[in-house]
Amino acid sequence: MSKSQTSPQIPPKYLQEDELSDECKKLLLTLPKERGWLASHIYNYQGFWATPRIIQGVIACQQQFQAQDSDIILVTTPKSGTTGLKSLLFSLVNRVKHPIFEQNHPLLIKNPHNLVPFLELRLYVDGQVPDFSSCTTPRLLSTHLPFASLPKSVQDSNTKLVYLCRNPKDTFISLWHFTNNLKLDHKDINSIGKVYDLFCNGVSLYGPFWDHVLDYWKQSIENPNKVLFLMYEEIKEQPKMHLKRLAEFLECPFSIKEENCGVVDEILRMCSFKNLSNLEVNTTGKLSTGEENKVFFRRGEIGDWKNYFTTEMSEKFNYIIEQKFQGSGLKFSYN
Ligand code: A3P
Repeated sequence: MSKSQTSPQIPPKYLQEDELSDECKKLLLTLPKERGWLASHIYNYQGFWATPRIIQGVIACQQQFQAQDSDIILVTTPKSGTTGLKSLLFSLVNRVKHPIFEQNHPLLIKNPHNLVPFLELRLYVDGQVPDFSSCTTPRLLSTHLPFASLPKSVQDSNTKLVYLCRNPKDTFISLWHFTNNLKLDHKDINSIGKVYDLFCNGVSLYGPFWDHVLDYWKQSIENPNKVLFLMYEEIKEQPKMHLKRLAEFLECPFSIKEENCGVVDEILRMCSFKNLSNLEVNTTGKLSTGEENKVFFRRGEIGDWKNYFTTEMSEKFNYIIEQKFQGSGLKFSYN
């Protein structure tokens, strides 16, 4: 078939805007707008940046989602290691129902995003009404929403929030690769310089990055039983310690017997980048939202930013970090 005869490419779902409700289209006309990394534009809704389709999902989720006290919600900034932590959470919380040594463990056949679904990106996207009736307790869910935009019932209930962030430089590099990977036919890929200024100015998915992290950091200090603040780098360096900390926060600590039988070690092995990224489901499968599972696994390392940042770029990030987090007590490693 010649090039002109090939069937037209259908834009992936995240770029489709034709399914927006009239109400959402009207709202968009009133919102501040900027050039998008992936979609042509992103909009500022309630102080954070998102695509039209995400905003529609956010509104539905805010209006409809009823949190339960037993819910566990993983909150992350995009590209901070959500996929890996979803797998850890799933195997930790479900280790009685799905023993980690089980041959058909769900993580071996499903991508972590299918086991711990996003609220606004998956369950409430495109006007869907999720059916939670078959969910087991506790429900494991996830979101990228800033604290102030969480559905009210999440804020008012005893729902536990596990928050994950990552060094901003690595987060930025990961996001840059991710959005370029999702571009149709890899056309019009963004140069690093093109999106660097946008990120610094807060214009990135669910950004400003700085405000997102700072708000949850403050919440974790004010309400340590509700919000656990985790860092990607710390988990990578001391995985066992942080998995046990997570288990204690979620009130399902490991018993001595489990530790002696190697349950903790096996959960960490199962959820490691090396293991997950090589599973068939993650090398060949696709999410219902259109993304290939493999785009969530790239290098999974600390400090990849050093391969891309100039000294000037690094210094500007350091300056912003200092300005934004001064006095908060929050420190990023590997700057
Ligand atoms: P890199 O692009 O730096 O490799 P998210 O899951 O929030 O989308 O983040 C994706 C980042 O987490 C990617 O980082 C990806 O490679 C890394 N990652 C995926 N699975 C991981 C795992 N099991 N452990 C550690 N990092 C993982």
